Amino acid sequence: MNPADTLTEIAVPQSQQWVRGNLLTLEELNASEINIILDTARALKEVSTRSIKKVPALRGKVVVNLFFEDSTRTRTSFKLAAERMSADIVDFSVSTSSVSKGETLRDTARNLVAMGVDAIVIRHRSSGAPNLLSQLVECSVINAGDGSHEHPTQGLLDLYTIRETFVPRGKALSDLHVAIVGDVIHSRVARSNIWALSKLGAKITLVGPSTLCPDSFSRLGVTVSSDFDAVLPTVDVVNMLRVQFERITSAAFPSVREYSRYFGLDERRLKLCKPDVLVLHPGPMNRGLEITSPVADGPASAILRQVSNGLAVRMAVLYLCIGVSSLRRS
Ligand code: CP
Repeated sequence: MNPADTLTEIAVPQSQQWVRGNLLTLEELNASEINIILDTARALKEVSTRSIKKVPALRGKVVVNLFFEDSTRTRTSFKLAAERMSADIVDFSVSTSSVSKGETLRDTARNLVAMGVDAIVIRHRSSGAPNLLSQLVECSVINAGDGSHEHPTQGLLDLYTIRETFVPRGKALSDLHVAIVGDVIHSRVARSNIWALSKLGAKITLVGPSTLCPDSFSRLGVTVSSDFDAVLPTVDVVNMLRVQFERITSAAFPSVREYSRYFGLDERRLKLCKPDVLVLHPGPMNRGLEITSPVADGPASAILRQVSNGLAVRMAVLYLCIGVSSLRRS
C-alpha cells in the first residue's frame, strides 16, 4: 500500500524519505528530517478544519499514552492526534496501574507490547527513559518529555509556529534570532529548541540568572546573557520558559518578585522588542512570574496557536513513525 493512498486529498511531501520508527530526541535528527516532520504537519493540519476531523491513515494501529508525569497539552494532543488518524489509543493511567504495586517500566512496557501495541508515547521524570524503552520493546517509542533532557514534539511545534509566522513575511528560520528565557537548566523544552533551531540555522540567545542559565550552555553554540532588556530589541522570537519549582532543589533566585523584575516578560519589556516580535510559552504558565497576563493573552502571543499546531505535529510524528516506517519495514 502506498502511504499517500491512505490520506484522502492530502499530499504528504517527502514522507517516503523518512526511515525512523522512533522519535527520541531532536539532537539525533538532521535538518532534512526536521523539515519532513514540519512539512507533513503542514499537510495534516487541514484535517482539523474539516467537519469530520478524521483520516484513515493509521486505521488498525494501536498507540498507548504512558505518562509517568502530569500533562495537559501533550497527553491530550497525542490522544486527539491518534484519533484523527483513526488509530486506537489507550490512555494508560500510571496511578491506577500495577506501576503503583512496584511493576518496572520494562515489565509494564513489555506487557503492553504483548497486547499488540504499535507505539508507546512516554513521558517520564527520568532523562533517558524513552531511549531505554526503545531498546526493550519492538514497537515505536515516542518521547513526550523525559526529565530535563528533551521534549521533541514541543520543540517541533515551536519551530512549526515560528516558521508559520515568519515564512509569509519572507523570513526563513536561518534569518531569525530567538531568545529562550528563564529556567533553562531544568528545561527539556529549551534543549529540544536549541537542537532544532540551531540545525535549521537560527541564532539563539539564552537569557536567565546564572543559577538557572549557566554559561556552560555556550558550548552548544548559543549566546548566554543575563541582561534581558539588552537582548529584547535584537530578537524576532521570545520563548518564555516555565520556572520549574518542582525540579529546583535550592534557592535559585532570592524571590519570585526579584525573578519577575529581571526575567519576567511584561508590557514594558514587550515595548523594547521589534514591533512584529513573536512570544511563545510551552505552558503551563506561571502567570505574573515569567509572563504577565496582558502579554500572554495579547496580540504578540502565539501560545494557543502553539497548542493547535502541536496537534498537527503529533499527527505527523505518529504518521511517520508507525505509518510510513512500518510500511517500509513490512
Ligand atoms: N508543554 C507541555 O509539555 O505541557 P504539558 O505538561 O501540559 O503536556
